[in-house]
Amino acid sequence: MLIQVNNLTKTYKTSGGITTPALNDVSFTIERGEFTAIAGPSGSGKSSLLNILSALDAPSSGEVIFNEENLSTLNEKQLSYFRLHTIGFIFQAYNLINTLTAIENVEYPLLLQNISAKQRRLRAIDILEQVGLGDYLTRFPNQLSGGQQQRVAVARSIVTKPKVIMADEPTANLDSKTSASLIELMLKLNEEHTTTFIFSTHDKDIMDRAKRLILLKDGQIQS
Ligand SMILES: Nc1ncnc2c1ncn2[C@@H]1O[C@H](COP(=O)(O)OP(=O)(O)OP(=O)(O)O)[C@@H](O)[C@H]1O
Ligand SMILES: [Mg+2]
Repeated sequence: MLIQVNNLTKTYKTSGGITTPALNDVSFTIERGEFTAIAGPSGSGKSSLLNILSALDAPSSGEVIFNEENLSTLNEKQLSYFRLHTIGFIFQAYNLINTLTAIENVEYPLLLQNISAKQRRLRAIDILEQVGLGDYLTRFPNQLSGGQQQRVAVARSIVTKPKVIMADEPTANLDSKTSASLIELMLKLNEEHTTTFIFSTHDKDIMDRAKRLILLKDGQIQS
């Protein structure tokens, strides 16, 4: 088992003493190599759940056990290390660095990991070729289509060989054809690298390509 989620709740407190419940007693496990979609209507808690799974946010109660380690026992430094080495992130808005080329964007997390310049370059080229962007290495993000930018983001997420890739609505800004090909790319990487993927989506066609679906409604699991 890779991730065990026990009785998570999340309640946001905003100014004026208002509280918003986002997750209510959520429990499930994720095995190594899964390709799992978290689905549910707007406001059902998908982003809240992914943020907690990837240690970007802490739950109000409950726990996430990642590889037998309870995330709530880690300090900030250990959490940064965990996020850099264990998780790959893909975002809805790509979040590439606009002043860096495609290859430099993919090299960036390896730089943070103190990998040598030569290794960074080799690994970034290899993975950009795997995502079909071998001819676009020196393009800047604004010289790429949305689908190509998201492929760079996928390459950046996997270049560090993370245990799991977390993606919050990775296809939300893409048209349906580009979304379908992005999901096929993620599936290919899931199979070839045995990387676990957990991603959220609104899109029925994307849900259909998932190997497992976790359905949220009002912060609770439906199935
Ligand atoms: N930072 C925050 N402060 C206060 N309330 C929040 C915050 N983030 C989310 N919420 C609330 O928590 C609930 C769950 O939100 P969340 O963003 O997890 O839903 P979602 O399923 O990702 O929705 P969407 O499909 O629109 O992205 C909603 O009621 C939302 O308003
Ligand atoms: Mg969301």
